[in-house]
Amino acid sequence: MDFQLKTLGLAGACTEKCDALVVLIGEDFKPGKDAISRLAADALKARALERSPGKLLSAWRAQGVAAPRLLLAGGGDGSARAVRAAVRAAMGALRGTGVRKLVLCLPQVSGLAVHAAVSAVSESSYVYVTTRSRTEPRELAKVVVGVTDAADVKTPFEQARGAARGIEYARELGNLPPNIATPTRLGEEARKLARSAGFQCQVLGPKEVARLRMGSFMAVAQGSREPLRFIVLKYQGAAASVSPVVLVGKGITFDSGGISIKPAPEMDEMKFDMGGAASVLGTFRALAELRPKLNVVGLIPSCENMPGGAAFKPGDVVTSMSGQTIEVLNTDAEGRLILCDALTYAERFEPTCVIDIATLTGACVVALGSVRSGLFSTDDELAHALQEAGETALDPCWRMPLDDDYGDGLKSNFADVANVAGRQGGAITAAKFLQRFARMYPWAHLDIAGTAWKGGPAKGATGRPVGLLVQYLLSQQPPASSAARKSRSPARKAAASTRARTRAR
Ligand code: BES
Ligand code: MN
Ligand code: ZN
Repeated sequence: MDFQLKTLGLAGACTEKCDALVVLIGEDFKPGKDAISRLAADALKARALERSPGKLLSAWRAQGVAAPRLLLAGGGDGSARAVRAAVRAAMGALRGTGVRKLVLCLPQVSGLAVHAAVSAVSESSYVYVTTRSRTEPRELAKVVVGVTDAADVKTPFEQARGAARGIEYARELGNLPPNIATPTRLGEEARKLARSAGFQCQVLGPKEVARLRMGSFMAVAQGSREPLRFIVLKYQGAAASVSPVVLVGKGITFDSGGISIKPAPEMDEMKFDMGGAASVLGTFRALAELRPKLNVVGLIPSCENMPGGAAFKPGDVVTSMSGQTIEVLNTDAEGRLILCDALTYAERFEPTCVIDIATLTGACVVALGSVRSGLFSTDDELAHALQEAGETALDPCWRMPLDDDYGDGLKSNFADVANVAGRQGGAITAAKFLQRFARMYPWAHLDIAGTAWKGGPAKGATGRPVGLLVQYLLSQQPPASSAARKSRSPARKAAASTRARTRAR
């Protein structure tokens, strides 16, 4: 799908050649002398149209309008949220009408609202077809976004367009069935993406991972016939000496629970347990487009979690790459076991920060539902930047605590740490487990168990939190001019001194 930005008033919109024209009529709508203005003003007066978002008035071959199909959509206060609701409603009304070229007219809106509109068009027109033989693919091919002054909103428009590519890619990967989206397939996707975008990419298999002594990751993978993969992707948009942001994505392509097997209802949804991995690949897809001036490394530990004669068991003690031993009390707490080794691997990049993204705990779904992802961080500056990025991209998160007391339940009589604590605060105790492996750098953890996919009749991957991650990375580019030195937060200082101590040893 091709997005284009254009300066377009309502008079101009009247002559646009397209299959459908959608015009937002917000609270500050002032009618001009054109046909659309007259129609909108008249309809508002007759209460055939309302300005609140979600309200629609549809017309066929309206006089003085070149487009055969015209949709007037209440635009509310023109905020990003209102525009998103308006565009979602309009796209819903256009579903199945065979629109190939759409003109979306957004008079007088902010960059944030343009961003929201582009995301909403992409989101609402996506159709999963790969394994359906009778579903029509997306027909929408061209979208012109008309605004009062295109120059004003060019940057947010382009950023949203880049992010949308990444979000769609993440959705597609997430939706693929688990017999297709195997660890091997994720490795191939990473390679393909790297080849087309000029990224560096390494895909490690069982032998290389054994050589790295990733004993925790290997334990999870050992019950499956699908060989594990450890994917390393590198985007270089700045000098090689600039330390990278490292993204780590949980890539469990199917989580049966292993020997601690899950109940049957909704177990199919555990194909989405690679949502973290999909979000890292989706973010790199967006980087390919947007090319920001920074360095990013993507790490994806990927395997299945299966029961069987070769599977790891409750009671097993495994040795992680960090040297810490872990007592496995529940094989269904596998995400943290593959992430911990990736977090240790991340140290070699001397990163500015590491962000892991994981469908980690059902407890996070209980805590935050499907509106906000859980955010945990040892670094306030990083946490704030991620929170702000989430608000901007309408892909929000909520910070959760990391008090050391929450880690008490992870004590083990037989290893340095257990992989589960009690039932209380499950999202936090999972984060406390990961924190033990993330002491060398400022670290954040996004628990996307509630946000990465939707269940029920609209079952499918959401592509979250690609929007948040792309927005965060774009915000981390150095300012064009001044070489403003970043102040060091306590966690940054602590990480730096830990690094110095470790090097001295
Ligand atoms: N992938 C699941 C988390 C999950 C469960 C996400 C349900 C979305 C919906 C994870 O591997 C898991 O099974 N976590 C366990 C941890 C428990 C055993 C401590 C959970 O949340 O039940
Ligand atoms: Mn699990
Ligand atoms: Zn899992």
